[in-house]
Amino acid sequence: TLRMVTVVAPVNIAVIKYWGKRDENLILPLNGSISGTLSTNQMCAKTTVSFSRNFTRNRIWLNGVEETFENRRLINCLNEVRRRAKEQGKISPEELEYNVHICSVNNFPTAAGLASSAAGYACLVASLSKLYQLDGDISSIARQGSGSACRSIYGGFVEWIAGDKNDGTDSCAVQVVDSNHWNEMRVLILVVSENKKKTGSTAGMQTSVATSELLKTRVSQVVPKRLADIKQAIYNKDFKTFADITMQDSNQFHAVCLDTYPPLVYMSEVSHAISDLIHQINEEAGKTIVAYTFDAGPNACLYLLEEHVPLVLAAVNHVFPTTQNADTYFTGIPVTLDS
Ligand code: DP6
Repeated sequence: TLRMVTVVAPVNIAVIKYWGKRDENLILPLNGSISGTLSTNQMCAKTTVSFSRNFTRNRIWLNGVEETFENRRLINCLNEVRRRAKEQGKISPEELEYNVHICSVNNFPTAAGLASSAAGYACLVASLSKLYQLDGDISSIARQGSGSACRSIYGGFVEWIAGDKNDGTDSCAVQVVDSNHWNEMRVLILVVSENKKKTGSTAGMQTSVATSELLKTRVSQVVPKRLADIKQAIYNKDFKTFADITMQDSNQFHAVCLDTYPPLVYMSEVSHAISDLIHQINEEAGKTIVAYTFDAGPNACLYLLEEHVPLVLAAVNHVFPTTQNADTYFTGIPVTLDS
């Protein structure tokens, strides 16, 4: 009467950013977004879930510490998995009533400010879906844990289709290309230490939706064309177009943050220095060989091709000898399922 599964899920790094919701509870975005899914060998979340008639209540442990089972997003994900399981009928009505135990760990420092919620919720939903033997797309469930988590369900380059229905059934992730398509692609994560506590994505984007005029223009006038253009660049393996759009979209996202009132300042002086360095490297190379992108924090994520990793790492280490850099290889293994 005890069933248990363990799943590993990867981090994803957006090249077209998600910022702003049209529904806070279902987590429906104002615009579509695209990201690359990193391989699970260096940065990932690992979750073990089980249910048993002997469990007296639902319990969850994050990195070994028990948390209360009160989180709305966690409850929404579990309820949606159970609702679908009931509909699909592979689990007995009795088992559907059993309580669950969830145990999740990250193999990367949460303190580094790297998007842990995406891998965490993707992993939670993938493991629960396996426990309850769900069929079909589960990205729309992961989305209800954290928006960006829906993209970690698939490998390679992934688009989160914004959708336009009020019930969110058309807001899910789809693979653009698998990791073999552009298998020379790599991601370097430059960890920029930062002590100041920043506003989290959820609260930050709420303030942007309420106050930023630029966000409205971005959503209606800018992102649709960028989504189409960057997908074409990915299909064509056109690195320059891919890199230009990635950097411009990161810059516009941070411009929206500064247009938010009060402003959201995520990039530090070091972040801006890294951005300068990347433009300088491309200038000196005589072509675009590397792109930066920054999320809601000061760390830089660099997209580049394998052949340019040594040169770019050498330049980064020369200019920022104290910056810790973990090279993460983009082989884009999709959520790996194992029992
Ligand atoms: C800047 O997915 O963390 O990383 O949906 O409220 O959980 P919630 O927000 P979250 O936002 C991620 C924002 C971003 C851009 C991106 O990953 O697309």
